[in-house]
Amino acid sequence: MNIKNVVVIGSGTMGSGIAAQLCNANVPVTLLDLKTEISEKAKKKIFESRPPLLIDKSKIDNINVGNIEDNFDLVGEADWIVEAVVERIDIKHSLYDKISKARKSNSIISSNTSTIPLKVLSEKMSPEDKKDFCITHFFNPVRYMGLLEIVSEEVNDAKKINFLKIFCEENLGKGVIICKDTPGFLGNRVGVYAMQVAMTEAIKMNLSIEEADAIFGRPMGIPKTGVFGLYDLIGIDLMADVLKSFLKELPSSDVFHEVAQEIPLVKSLIQNGYTGRKGKGGFYRMNKHDGKKILEAINLKNNQYSQSKKIELDIDEKINLKDLVSRNDKYGNYAWSVISKIILYASSLIPNVTKDYNNIDEAMRLGFNWAKGPFEMLQELGIKFFVEKDNNLKMNNFIKKIYNEKNDNFYGQRQIYTNLETLGKVKQLAKVKNDNKSALTYTYKNYKIVEFNTKANTLDYDSMDALKKASDQNLIIINEGMQFSAGVNLNYVMDFAKEKNWKAIEKFIHHFQMTCKKLKYSDNLVVTAPSGLALGGGFEVMVQSDYVVSHTNIVTGLVETLVGLIPAGGGTKQMLWRWMQTQEAKQDPDFAPQKVFDIIGYGKTASSPVEAMPFKFMLDKDKSIMNRNKLLSVAENLINEKKNSYSPPKEPIFKLSGNQVRDKMYLTLEKLFKEKKIFDHGIEVAKQLAFVLSGGNTNINKELSEDDMYALELEAFIKLIQMEKTQERIKYTLATGKPLVN
Ligand code: NAI
Repeated sequence: MNIKNVVVIGSGTMGSGIAAQLCNANVPVTLLDLKTEISEKAKKKIFESRPPLLIDKSKIDNINVGNIEDNFDLVGEADWIVEAVVERIDIKHSLYDKISKARKSNSIISSNTSTIPLKVLSEKMSPEDKKDFCITHFFNPVRYMGLLEIVSEEVNDAKKINFLKIFCEENLGKGVIICKDTPGFLGNRVGVYAMQVAMTEAIKMNLSIEEADAIFGRPMGIPKTGVFGLYDLIGIDLMADVLKSFLKELPSSDVFHEVAQEIPLVKSLIQNGYTGRKGKGGFYRMNKHDGKKILEAINLKNNQYSQSKKIELDIDEKINLKDLVSRNDKYGNYAWSVISKIILYASSLIPNVTKDYNNIDEAMRLGFNWAKGPFEMLQELGIKFFVEKDNNLKMNNFIKKIYNEKNDNFYGQRQIYTNLETLGKVKQLAKVKNDNKSALTYTYKNYKIVEFNTKANTLDYDSMDALKKASDQNLIIINEGMQFSAGVNLNYVMDFAKEKNWKAIEKFIHHFQMTCKKLKYSDNLVVTAPSGLALGGGFEVMVQSDYVVSHTNIVTGLVETLVGLIPAGGGTKQMLWRWMQTQEAKQDPDFAPQKVFDIIGYGKTASSPVEAMPFKFMLDKDKSIMNRNKLLSVAENLINEKKNSYSPPKEPIFKLSGNQVRDKMYLTLEKLFKEKKIFDHGIEVAKQLAFVLSGGNTNINKELSEDDMYALELEAFIKLIQMEKTQERIKYTLATGKPLVN
C-alpha cells in the first residue's frame, strides 16, 4: 500500500484543513465540492489563512480543485478518499454509494464525522467497502491540532488501518489514537462533557463567566480561553448540534445527560445570532464605546452585557491542583466540583469505551491542549485525597479498585498510542538531575535534556543556570508544553525595573549571554528541538546552539523591539554574523547590518521552518519534521551522528563600519518617521539597535570580538529598559498580550 494521491470531498473548514495538511506533506490532493467555485474559494482561503494552514505557500498548487459531477473520476485514481461534507447522513450515504462505484480496489475511504457512528455510516455498504472504511476524525485547525482519532471496527482490514495510522503519524504529523465506535470517541466524549460541566457548574454556583474562565483555564492546565471563551471560538450553534447528537446516542443512564440539557440562555443567544466569534458575539463580544473597542461579557442571570472584568486569583504561576481544589472559597469549590466530576466521568468509561485510560489523557492533550488529562489529574491529587475529600463522592469501579489497592502509582506508561520514543515517555525513564523552579534537567542515555517549565516557558536566571550546568554533556533542549519559549520573562525583568535595580538586570542579561556562549563553545553538542513559539530569548537560545531540529509548526523571530527593547542575549550579534556570511556581505560591509536592522527592527517572525530560512532564522544544516513526537529521537540521532567529529566553532571577528552604516540606517528611520510608520519611541529603540549593529564607535578597519558585541547589546538593553516609554510598553504587553503602538 501507498498513499500517493488523495481526494478530499467537501471543502469546508475541515476538508480544506485536511487538504492543506496533505499539501504540507507533499502529497498531491484534490478537493471536490458541489461546485468548483466552492472548492476554488476554499483554496484561496487556505492560501490566505491566518495562522497559515500551509507550511510553504508556494506549494499551494499541490492542491487541485474540482466538483463532484465533472471530476468524480479522480476518485478512481485516489489511494485515500476522505469525506468531509456536512454532517448529514443522507448526503454521506449517497456519496459513499458513488465512491464505491468509482474507487479502485485497495483504496481507503474515511469520514471526518464527529458525531455519526461508524456502523450507521457504513450500514449500506458492501462487505468489501466496509473492510476499507473507517472514521478519521481530525481536529480544527488541522495543521495545528495534534490529535487524529481513527475509529475502526473488527470488520476492517487491520493491516490497512495500521498502515493509515503510520502514514498519518509520519507524514501528517498527528498523534493517532485508535478508538472504538462509541459516541464522541475519546476526545469529544470527555472534552465536551468537561465543557458542559464547567458551564453548568458555573451557572449553579453563581460564578460569572470571567470567574469560570479564570479557573477552568490556566490554573487547571487548560488553555486560557476557558469554557465560555472556547464555546465562542467553536460556535455556540455548533456545540448545540454536538450536544443533541450526544443525547441521541448515549443511554439515558449516562451522566452526560445531566449536563447536556438545553440552557435557555444558550438557546436565546443562538436565536439572536450570537453564535460566538463568527456571529455577532457570544458569551463575550466586542463593543464600541466612544470609538473605543471594549470587550464585554454576558451576565448569566440577566443576559445583559457589561465590560469584562479581569479576575485576580492570587495563584502561583505553577499549576497546583491540590492547592486549587483545597481553596476555601467559591473558586476552590468550583474547581473541585468540575475536576472531580470530570475524573469520575472519564474513569467511568474504563473499560467499555477504552481500556487504555492513558489514551483519554493524550486525547485531551492533543485535541484540547490540556496540560494534563483527567487520569494524570487524579494521579497528581492522589487517590486517597480524591476519594476522602468529599463524603458524597460516588466511586465507580475504576476508582474503587485503585482506592482499595491504595495504588497511588497506578498510572504506568505514557503515550502508549505511539511506538515512537517520545519526550513524554523518556521523561518517565530518565533521571531528573536538577530541579530548579524554571527548568528540569534529565539525564538519559549519553546526553542531557533540558525542559523549561515556566508559564509559556519564559526565561529567567534559573532557566539559564539549568542550561549552563547541563552543557557539561551533549545536550538536547526540548519542550513538551505548547511553547518552546515565548522569550525572556518580562515580569521578572520588570520587578527589577520597578525598583530601579539596573545592576540585577545587567547581571541577568550577562548571565544569559554567557550561557549562550557556553552552549556555543562547549566541547559538547547542543541541539535545540523546539516546537510552538521560539521567540525573543527563546529564539536566542535556539540560534546559538549547534543544530536545530524543529517541528514544522514552529514560530520563530526576534520580537523585542515590539516591547521597546532589543535582543541582548546574543540574538542581534548572531543574526548579524549569519548575514555577514552571505555573498552580498562580502561585497558590501554595510549589507548585513542593514538587513538585520530591517528584520529585528520590524520584529519579523516566521510561522514555519520554510518561512524561517529566507530570514536565516534557520539554516540548511538544521532539520524540520512534521511529527512533534519524533523531535527527541531525531535530535538524539543527530548527536550520535555528529559527536565524534564535532569541534566547537571558532569565535567570529566583526568588522563593521560604525558611523558610516549608522547614517544609512538613520536615513531609513527619517523616511519611516515622515511616513508615520514609526513614532518617537520607535526611533529611540531603532537607534539603539543601529548602534549595536553598526559596531558602536568603530570603523571598518577595527576588529570587534564576540564579547565586544555582547557588551554593545547589553549596554543598549540597559539604556532602553531604563526608559519610561519602554516600561510602559512592557506593562501594556504583559496586561494584554499585545504590543503597544505609539
Ligand atoms: P462545513 O460546513 O464547513 O463544510 C462542508 C462542505 O461540504 C461545504 O463546503 C459544502 O458545500 C460541502 N458539501 C455538502 N454536500 C456535499 C456533497 N454532496 N458533495 C460534496 N461536497 C458537499 O463543514 P465542516 O465543519 O468542514 O465539517 C465537515 C465534517 O467534519 C462534518 O462531518 C463534521 O461533523 C466534521 N467535523 C467538523 C469539525 C469542525 O470543527 N468544524 C471538527 C471535526 C469534525
